[in-house]
Amino acid sequence: MSSAASSPASSAASSASAFRKLLFFALFLTFDLIMFGAFVRVTDAGLGCPDWPGCYGKITPLGALDTIRAEAAERPQGPVTEFKAWVEMLHRYVAAGLGLIIIALAVMATRLRRARLAEARVDASHGRRPPPGGTAGRAAPGVAGSRITPGAGARMAPEDPPAGGLPPSSPGPAARPLPAEAATPAAPPGVALAWFTLVWIILQGIFGAWTVTLKLKPLVVTGHLLGGMILFGLLLAQAVRVAGHPPVAREAGRYLRWGALALAMLFVQITLGGWVSTNYATLACRDFPACQGEFWPPMDFAAGFELWRRLGVTGEGAALPFQALTAIHYTHRLFAYAVFAVVGLLAWRIRRVGGLERVGDTLVAVLVLQLVTGLTNIFLDWPLVAAVLHTGGAAALLGLLLVVLFRARAAAALPPVAVDSTRASPLSGPPARAGA
Ligand code: HEM
Repeated sequence: MSSAASSPASSAASSASAFRKLLFFALFLTFDLIMFGAFVRVTDAGLGCPDWPGCYGKITPLGALDTIRAEAAERPQGPVTEFKAWVEMLHRYVAAGLGLIIIALAVMATRLRRARLAEARVDASHGRRPPPGGTAGRAAPGVAGSRITPGAGARMAPEDPPAGGLPPSSPGPAARPLPAEAATPAAPPGVALAWFTLVWIILQGIFGAWTVTLKLKPLVVTGHLLGGMILFGLLLAQAVRVAGHPPVAREAGRYLRWGALALAMLFVQITLGGWVSTNYATLACRDFPACQGEFWPPMDFAAGFELWRRLGVTGEGAALPFQALTAIHYTHRLFAYAVFAVVGLLAWRIRRVGGLERVGDTLVAVLVLQLVTGLTNIFLDWPLVAAVLHTGGAAALLGLLLVVLFRARAAAALPPVAVDSTRASPLSGPPARAGA
C-alpha cells in the first residue's frame, strides 16, 4: 500500500539530500564569512561594537544608536561609527547563523546514521543483505563496501581482452580488470566529523569574542583567521565525503606527498599573511620585487615575530619599530615565492592527470589572482576589493589543495599493479588529458 514517496527509505533519502544542500550552503557561507572578516578588518570595523556578544549590550546597533553617535561625534575617525557598528554586527549575525546551521548538520548526520542502523537491523531480521551504508544518506546506489571502489572505471590489465567482448581464447577468471582509476562514491555523512565541526565553530566564536575583548591582539586575530580557514576545510571534508568525486587516475596517487607539502606550506603562508594584516604591516614595502629599494631591507625579526603583544607595540610596551613591520611584510612575500613554486608546479603537473585536470587549471588561475591581488595591495594603496579577494583567494587555494589531497589519497589506496617487465603496459603510458 505504501507508496515509494512515503517509504522510510525515500524519506531517509530526502533527509540525506537536505543534509547535502545545507552543507553546501554552510560551505558557501563560510567562504563568504572569511572574506567578510577581511572586509571588517580593512574597514577598521573590528571594534565597531567594543563589547560582545551584543553592541553596547543591545542585540542590534539600533538599540545603542545614541551611544554610538556620541562616540562617533567625539572621535569621527575612531573605531566606533554607525557604519562600523553595523559591519561588525553583520559579521556576528552571519557567524551566528552559520553556527545554527552547523548544529543542524550535526543533528541531521546523527539522525541519518540512526536511520541507517535501523534499516540494517530490519534487513538483517528479514535475512536480506543491506546495501552498505543503507539507503539513508546515500547518493550513489550500487557502491561496494569501501568508500573507494577500485573497480570503478577500471581499465583492463595487459592480459585482458580488448574492449568489445571476450575473444574465444579468453583466459577466463584469471584475467581480472586492474583498477586504473579510483572513484569515490558519495558516502553517508560522517557523524564524528559533523560534531567536531560544531566544536570547532564554538572555538571560533570564542576567538571572535577575544578578538574584540582583547582589542585586536595580532595573535588572536590571526588565530581567528586560521580558525575560519580550518572551519572551511572541515566543511569541505564533509562535502567531499557526501558528494564523492569522479574517477581519478592511478597516477594521482603519486602527488599525495607533494600535495601534503603544498598544503602545509600554504597554511604557513596564510598564517604569515594574517600576521601582516593584523599587524597593519601592509604598506611597509611599497615597491616590488625589492622593498624600500633593497632586496634585504633593514628588518627586526625579533620584534616583528614576538607573538604575545598588543597591536602596534612590543612586549615591553614600546612602539613597534618600522623594521619590525618590514620583517613581517617581507617574510610573507619571500615565503610566497616558495609557495608559488611548490603549489604552482604541482598545479601545472596535475593538469594532465585524469580526474585532477580542472582542479589543476583552477589552482593555476587562483595562484595568478593571488599574485595580482597581493601586488595591488602594494601598488594601489591596498584597495578594499583587492584585500578581500586576496583573503578569498587564500581560502580557495586551501579548498583546492584539499580536493587534490582527497583525490590523490583515493588513488594511492588502489591495490598495486603487478609490473610485467617483459611487455610494455598500456597503463604505463602518459595519461591522456580529458578532451585532449
Ligand atoms: C600563495 C600566495 C599567497 C597567499 C596564500 C597569501 C595569503 C594571505 C593572507 C591569508 C593574508 C591575510 C588576509 C587577511 O587577514 O584577511 C594576506 C595578506 C597580505 N598579503 Fe598575501 N598571500 C600570498 C601572496 C602574496 C604576495 C605575492 C604578496 C605581494 C607581493 C602578498 C601581499 C600581501 C599583503 C600586502 C597582505 C596584507 C593585506 C591586508 O592587510 O589586507 N601576498 N596574504
